[in-house]
Amino acid sequence: MCGIVGYIGSRQAPEICINGLRQLQYRGYDLIGLATVQDGQVHVRTATGKPEAMDQLLTSEPLTGTLGIGHSTWSDQGKASAQDAHPHLSSNHRIAVALSGTVENHQELRENLTAAGCEFRSQSAGEVVAQLVQTHYEGDLRAAVCRAMEQMQGRFALAAMAADSPDELVAARRFLPLVVGIGQGEQYIATDMYSIRDETDRVYVLGDDEVALLTAEGIELTDLQMKPVQREPFVIPQPAAADPKDKGDHRHYMHKEIYEQPDVIRNCLAGRLTSPDLPIQLDGLNMTEQDIRDVRQIIFSACGTANHAGMVGGYLMEKLARISCVFELAAELPSRDPVVLPGSMCVGISQSGETNDTLMALRDLKSKGARVISVLNAEDSTIARESDGVLYIHAGKEIGVASTKAYTLQVLTLSMMALHFAEVRGTADPELIRSLKKELLLTPAVIQQLLSREDEVKAVAQKHYDKPDAFFLGRGVNMASAMEGSLKLKETSYIHSEGYSAGEVRHGPVALLQPSMFVVAIAAQGEVYDMMVANLGGLKGRSAPIIAMATDGDTQVPTAGVDPAADASDPTSQPNDMIWLPPTHEFVSPIAATIPLQLLAYHMADMKGEGIDQPRHLTKTVMPE
Ligand code: G6P
Repeated sequence: MCGIVGYIGSRQAPEICINGLRQLQYRGYDLIGLATVQDGQVHVRTATGKPEAMDQLLTSEPLTGTLGIGHSTWSDQGKASAQDAHPHLSSNHRIAVALSGTVENHQELRENLTAAGCEFRSQSAGEVVAQLVQTHYEGDLRAAVCRAMEQMQGRFALAAMAADSPDELVAARRFLPLVVGIGQGEQYIATDMYSIRDETDRVYVLGDDEVALLTAEGIELTDLQMKPVQREPFVIPQPAAADPKDKGDHRHYMHKEIYEQPDVIRNCLAGRLTSPDLPIQLDGLNMTEQDIRDVRQIIFSACGTANHAGMVGGYLMEKLARISCVFELAAELPSRDPVVLPGSMCVGISQSGETNDTLMALRDLKSKGARVISVLNAEDSTIARESDGVLYIHAGKEIGVASTKAYTLQVLTLSMMALHFAEVRGTADPELIRSLKKELLLTPAVIQQLLSREDEVKAVAQKHYDKPDAFFLGRGVNMASAMEGSLKLKETSYIHSEGYSAGEVRHGPVALLQPSMFVVAIAAQGEVYDMMVANLGGLKGRSAPIIAMATDGDTQVPTAGVDPAADASDPTSQPNDMIWLPPTHEFVSPIAATIPLQLLAYHMADMKGEGIDQPRHLTKTVMPE
């Protein structure tokens, strides 16, 4: 999702727009553009890089005007080129449009416009929309945008202005977020309301297919037929006590967010799980006890890190609530056309609430009759609006592209959900439920203890960070933890890594093991412990050095598979490198195991000198291609 900030009033628009875009810089945008209307002309400046690049450009090529639009985005189609930056101009240079999202039929629109004699300068859908608005423009910019919107398909938000309507700014959206900020003698547009929080705390949140006409004096909201829409202003909440963009003593957001986990876990538990003796309250679910008893199947669907959280959640749900659970990678789900049985519910998990693959998967399941429950962090997202129930994880803003605190809270929330379902359905031993609740309440302290052991993880990272390949292995509920540890490592350090079941790895991938790589194996106490120890023996024999994660006091894992007779240069002769975990129930161990895995990835990436917070080729929220 790109960033748009627009302004109309009496101050200089470029400055306000750049300041707004600066607030979005953590997303890793590398293309930036600004347009103003001044002296009957539209003026545009575009640059590759951060807002600082635009500051520099404006010193040599100043831009003025009290009506303006700024836009920033990623050049995710290859090398960044200023030509691809928005705002885009129509062919007669009289209309400028900044677009976020996707216009699915932009090729078809382009062909029709080309046939009508229009010439395009870029491949951008933004330019197609600017041209479309121009073809409908007869002195009324809002009407032209409405007519253009009727021809556009997809999910997008846009801001438009015209040289011949110098006192108007128009904003519109379909499925992607967009707000208009309310000022005194000045108004704003923003795709992320926090980007204009320094200017105003009152906004109108536009609905789908709604259009806002902004003048310096006020804002009019209408639908596409230009019928007025009434809406109460929304007050942007104060950011949490500490500014999420303040790194404090941490060098990277990822490290800061790993350290926030004890606190955000307390937020997530608050009001839901307060005592081992009280039932769990999950109001956002919107389900009666009878609804919960009627569930026959749960389909978990998500992408990336959130998918791993879903795997943990599904494992616990099946074990505790005895409901058949399936996992579907969201990107694959619609094309598989899954059979949805009566009584099915699906659980979509997403930090942003905007990931297109997850949205498409949930829509597909909903259209087949499934109840949609989502586990989300960002509020007011598209997935939230389309869900029958939403459980917010309350992680606060997550800035590091590689998700850390959101993952832990997704696992925690899904664990509470599994316990709640088990309680209502009467499918698990009440004593087990009580002890698991007690352990979840203790997770902030367990995490604090794990954070205090950071140096031990760092020492292990130091030994292996220069190896090119890794395997992360686990079984049972920690197979997902291994996959998440592996994903974290590859996202941040660019070490090639595979997350696997420690059982399945023997069926082929084990052929790859050699001394130049390392294996991370999760062997916490629990049902699969003996199998993990046996697997470690087999793996060690393949001469790859092993980093083993085991429960404090374990005496078997440090030497599992070690051959004292082997040559000293052979890793088989060396004890395993250990990362110790405080004792937890197996069902709570994914939360504990995740912390050192996050720290391992962080330190390996840092030792390799990687940027960490904005990994190459990655974006925080993946929209349609
Ligand atoms: C992108 C990010 C991943 C993230 C995934 C799902 O691929 O790079 O880190 O896990 O999207 O994001 P969501 O916002 O839906 O949790």
